[in-house]
Amino acid sequence: MFFDRLLAAVGLGGYNSAAAYERHLRSKLRQHRGNRDLAFADAIGSDSIALFENQGDAQIAVLRHHGLTDGMSVYDLGCGCGRTAQALQRAGWHGRYTGADIVEGFVSELKRKCPGFDAHVHREPSIVAADASVDMLFHWSVFTHVSLEECFLYLEDSFRALKPGGKLVFSFLELTEPSHYERIFENRVGRLRRNRRLKLLDTFLHRDWIALWAEKIGFEAPQFTAGDDQSSHPQMWQTLAAMVKPV
Ligand SMILES: C[S@@+](CC[C@H](N)C(=O)[O-])C[C@H]1O[C@@H](n2cnc3c(N)ncnc32)[C@H](O)[C@@H]1O
Repeated sequence: MFFDRLLAAVGLGGYNSAAAYERHLRSKLRQHRGNRDLAFADAIGSDSIALFENQGDAQIAVLRHHGLTDGMSVYDLGCGCGRTAQALQRAGWHGRYTGADIVEGFVSELKRKCPGFDAHVHREPSIVAADASVDMLFHWSVFTHVSLEECFLYLEDSFRALKPGGKLVFSFLELTEPSHYERIFENRVGRLRRNRRLKLLDTFLHRDWIALWAEKIGFEAPQFTAGDDQSSHPQMWQTLAAMVKPV
């Protein structure tokens, strides 16, 4: 840990997502000292409690649109501090929830807020579930922070863990989407221009790459929903991909 920090400080360290996210959470806890809930919400990208709850409720609306019902076994990859888990709990959903994240502080916060839900600290690009055991696997704003190779490994292992007919739903950033380009990409380029550090990795994907991976792995062709589309559920800002493991 000490050497990771030392190498990062002198600009020689490789990117370590768990260390970067742990640093990020510690800095939010310092920034919002005295308001722990806000610190956790801000650490996963919601800068108010109202937004944290609205976004969680919107995630549930997306899952319901894609077939979520009581009694299902669901898996929340990169579950963070439980924005979705807390929304499921608020909605009175009953079923088998498993969350996984690389940050211990997030996982223990989720368990504190949702004592009936199961969650693990897991730092390998794999799914902590038996073969063909999950009805619905989802992740929000997670492929936005991992390398392309890790995305592929997560997709491949999601296929293994899903039941035949099970569904994968996730959000991602597109460089060709003007709002993602302007708000995220240009902002990051600007930071580098000003010699500022990029604290977290931000990854952009392309619909064609996701379709290619789906085909190679054996999923049915993915469906995409633009981030500003609110025809079936609230708009999510990030683009959504949904794909089914064939029966
Ligand atoms: C923007 S937050 C979203 C959290 C949660 N999905 C939600 O919507 O509230 C991104 C999450 O991805 C997790 N994460 C980052 N890199 C990861 C990786 N390689 N594998 C799994 N999770 C990762 C972070 O720890 C963080 O909890």
